Amino acid sequence: MDKLSIAGPTRLAGTIRASGAKNAALPILAATLLAEEPVVLHNLPRVRDIRTMDRLLCHLGASSELRDDGALVVRGSADGNPDDAPYELVKTMRASALVLGPLLARRGHARVSLPGGCAIGVRPIDQHLAGLEALGATIELEHGYVTASARALHGARFRFAMPTVGGTENLMMAASLARGTTVLENCAREPEIVDLARLLNAMGARLAGAGEETIVIEGVERLGGCEHTVIADRIEVGTYLIGAAITGGDVTVEQCNPADLAPLLAKLSEIGASVEVAAADATTGRGGRIRVAAGGGLRASDVSTAPHPGFPTDLQAQYLALMTQAEGVAAVCETVFENRFQHVPELLRMGADVRCEGPCAYVHGPTPLSGSHVMATDLRASACLVLAALVAEGETVVDRIYHLDRGYENMELKLQKLGAHVRRIHS
Ligand code: UD1
Repeated sequence: MDKLSIAGPTRLAGTIRASGAKNAALPILAATLLAEEPVVLHNLPRVRDIRTMDRLLCHLGASSELRDDGALVVRGSADGNPDDAPYELVKTMRASALVLGPLLARRGHARVSLPGGCAIGVRPIDQHLAGLEALGATIELEHGYVTASARALHGARFRFAMPTVGGTENLMMAASLARGTTVLENCAREPEIVDLARLLNAMGARLAGAGEETIVIEGVERLGGCEHTVIADRIEVGTYLIGAAITGGDVTVEQCNPADLAPLLAKLSEIGASVEVAAADATTGRGGRIRVAAGGGLRASDVSTAPHPGFPTDLQAQYLALMTQAEGVAAVCETVFENRFQHVPELLRMGADVRCEGPCAYVHGPTPLSGSHVMATDLRASACLVLAALVAEGETVVDRIYHLDRGYENMELKLQKLGAHVRRIHS
């Protein structure tokens, strides 16, 4: 298993380009199963989760081809192929459940392994299933698999019990080919949902309201091909901007959308970093720029995660690392997932002063951190440890970085470009 060795302390400085958003690309890849013609996708990040979804699509009978210009051309397939997502693929990536809606809508049948829990919590998919039932599907749970079938899906009104990103996406995809109108209420409003809606509408769907609480979908008979460019990865961008703040550095990220990062940027300003933005194109959400600079003397500030437009849970671990270097006590509270503080014991080993109580972690700072051997437990926890390593004195070895490889494109190259002393140890 590969490791990262990071020699600190470092000051990050320079300019990098945002990668495409993994969490937008995954549902977009699943949605290609709905199309009767090829879909051309630009700006897909080269990360493990995307390769896993590509393998899953091919297992389901689709084919894909990487063009010389980096675009991936995906051809869905209506039938004649297996329509099940096996445990071996689903267990490595929960987002595999996103093929449920498209398979059911296009083929009338889907069999997907239940994802089970993961390091950050239980994460059921009951809302995905209840929504598909509302559209007329019959759902059976057997031998760890969900089997969904429907002769024809029909439009319906469905209210999510909580805003779920994957649930909203699954229902948007299924309802696009259902007969009649679907009204989805209490939807998740993440930018990745808006990007999926852009793709579906470009394929011929009639979907309005993505990014708001209520989404209305007029079902259509067929969906065609299109060309689409995936939005920037706001979590990746946020991670490097926190990197600028924690190291007292000066980092500019290009080709991103500052509006998608509003809660983080507000926090960074509040704690004493300087934040400059150039807005993205209003239609595509692309082409913006953010610069964050800090010169030490950061002040602690509390954060509570919440569904978009709140502070993203996927930046909680990175923000917690930042608070170890800020003056005062910060309460970092997690409201989206029930078990998302596994980075804390590793930070304690590096010298941080953090006390967990229920859904909150109280971070006392600033504390000097010292390089240690630490273990990554999930994707964002790994990013938190890398950030801590950048300010720690001496060498930190982050073990199990296959978690990082799931979601960060070329992390060590980007960090090197910003002046960090990082190297990958292959083992
Ligand atoms: C997506 C993101 C993930 C992010 C999360 C929250 C992708 C591939 N992953 O995950 O990085 O951390 O959004 O922003 O986009 N829930 C239920 N029942 C359901 C569905 C969800 O109880 O049927 C709960 C979950 O356990 C969790 C909360 O709702 O506590 C939010 O989960 P959800 O928004 O669905 O997260 P994902 O789509 O899995």
